[in-house]
This record gives sequence, C-alpha cells and structure tokens, in this order.
Amino acid sequence: MGANVPQHIAVIMDGNGRWAKARGKARLSGHRAGTDALERILGYCSDAGVKYLTVYAFSTENWKRSKEEVSGLMKLLSAFVKGKEKMLVKNKVRFRVIGRRSDLSEKLQREIAGLEERTANFERQLIVALSYGGRAEIVDAAVKFAHVVGKGGLPADVHEAERLFASCLYAPDVPDPDLLIRTSGECRISNFLLWELAYTEFHFTDTLWPDFSREDFDRALESYAHRERRMGGRLETK
Ligand code: IPE
Ligand code: IPE
Ligand code: MG
Repeated sequence: MGANVPQHIAVIMDGNGRWAKARGKARLSGHRAGTDALERILGYCSDAGVKYLTVYAFSTENWKRSKEEVSGLMKLLSAFVKGKEKMLVKNKVRFRVIGRRSDLSEKLQREIAGLEERTANFERQLIVALSYGGRAEIVDAAVKFAHVVGKGGLPADVHEAERLFASCLYAPDVPDPDLLIRTSGECRISNFLLWELAYTEFHFTDTLWPDFSREDFDRALESYAHRERRMGGRLETK
C-alpha cells in the first residue's frame, strides 16, 4: 500500500447516458455497463487499500427522469443487491445505503436491509447513495437534531453542537471522503454529500463512467497523493 492513499473515496458515476448514445444504444444499456464499472472500482479500491467507497447511484432529482429510465434503474439496483452478495461476501465488503430509502419500493427496501444485515460485520464498506440528496440529508439531520435537542437540550459549546448535528447524518460513523471523483467532464457536485465534502479533494475526469479503468483510478490516486491538505490550518514548514 503506497503512501497517501485515501481512506474514503466518493464517486459521482456520471456519463452512462452519453456512453450509450455514442454506441446507438438505449440509456439503460449505459447504466448496465455502469454497474460493471462499479464492480471493477470496488476491486481497485481493495487492491489500493481504500476502506470506504461511496457511490452516487440515484439522486433525489433523478426521479424527474422518464418512467422507463427510473424503473429500469430500480430493476438494475435490485439485480445488483440480489446478484452481488456472493461477490461482496467473498471480498469481505459491507454494503450500506444512504438516502431517502422510504422513496424506494418496499421490496427493494427489504432486499437492501437483508444485504446490509448479512454483510454488517465486514470492515471495508461500499456505501450506495440511493434517492440521495445532500440537501435532503441535511434536512433529515435537522429534523433528527431537533428531536434530540428537544429532549436533551442544545449543547452550550458550538463545536459540541456541530458534533451532535453531524451524528444525525445518514452514516455518522463513516469518516468524510478524502477524495471525490466525478466522471464525464461535468465539474459540479449535483447535490452529493454537501456536508461531508467540506474538505474533500476533487478529481474530475472526462472519461465516461462505463469506461472508467484502472488507469483512470490510478491517475486519480496519483493526483491525490500530491495534494497538500491543510484543512484550514497553516502550512507546516520544516
Ligand atoms: C449517471 O449517468 C447515472 C445516473 C444519474 C443514474 P447519466 O444517466 O446521468 O448519464 P449522462 O449524464 O446522461 O451521460
Ligand atoms: C448525478 O448525476 C447523479 C448521479 C450520478 C447518480 P446527474 O447526471 O443526475 O447530474 P446533473 O443533472 O448532470 O447535474
Ligand atoms: Mg448525468
């Protein structure tokens, strides 16, 4: 394991539609190829010693897409949850979902909960953001925070209040991402992990998600290795 390897990588897996279009295929075949890319990057993370991988699979805004595309994506997600258990167990990966899971069908919610339970004891984690929005997460956290504060009172110390608020987010035990990768040339975060990306390093690549290769991954890691993360502190000089 090299020096300066990110402990947590977050990925905005974008460009499936354009990948399919370029091949004269339906958008869904791009999403299918995207699932293969997800399985590949999980392997790259394991080889590199990355402990957490969070991937943006479906945003709160993606419900606006055609009925056909949304139902196709939901079927693919369900097939992933049902079909990849063996692979996840073999690689000792814990599966988790973040997002408004009550938006999902009850059947998919049950499938997710089952896989989460059966992989709960593994250390490495694949966190899938599903019906996820950064603003939705902050609002959901604010509601939870209000309940907690209503019972126990507001901490007098602002740092303590910040810690309490952060503990109300979807996966409070997971450290913030060190590196964010977005594919397909778009340079925006599209409502992903608004709170958690506060000090994350960003890497944008033109590669479309289904084409994402080990070379792309290595380039992202190489770029990360040279970043100087000051986190608001002063630069240490020898
Ligand atoms: C990302 O690919 C996957 C999802 C948003 C579900 P897109 O479907 O956004 O692909 P493009 O951006 O249209 O190429
Ligand atoms: C972000 O991609 C969401 C996912 C990758 C799941 P989008 O394609 O939905 O984002 P915009 O519309 O380009 O901002
Ligand atoms: Mg897109």
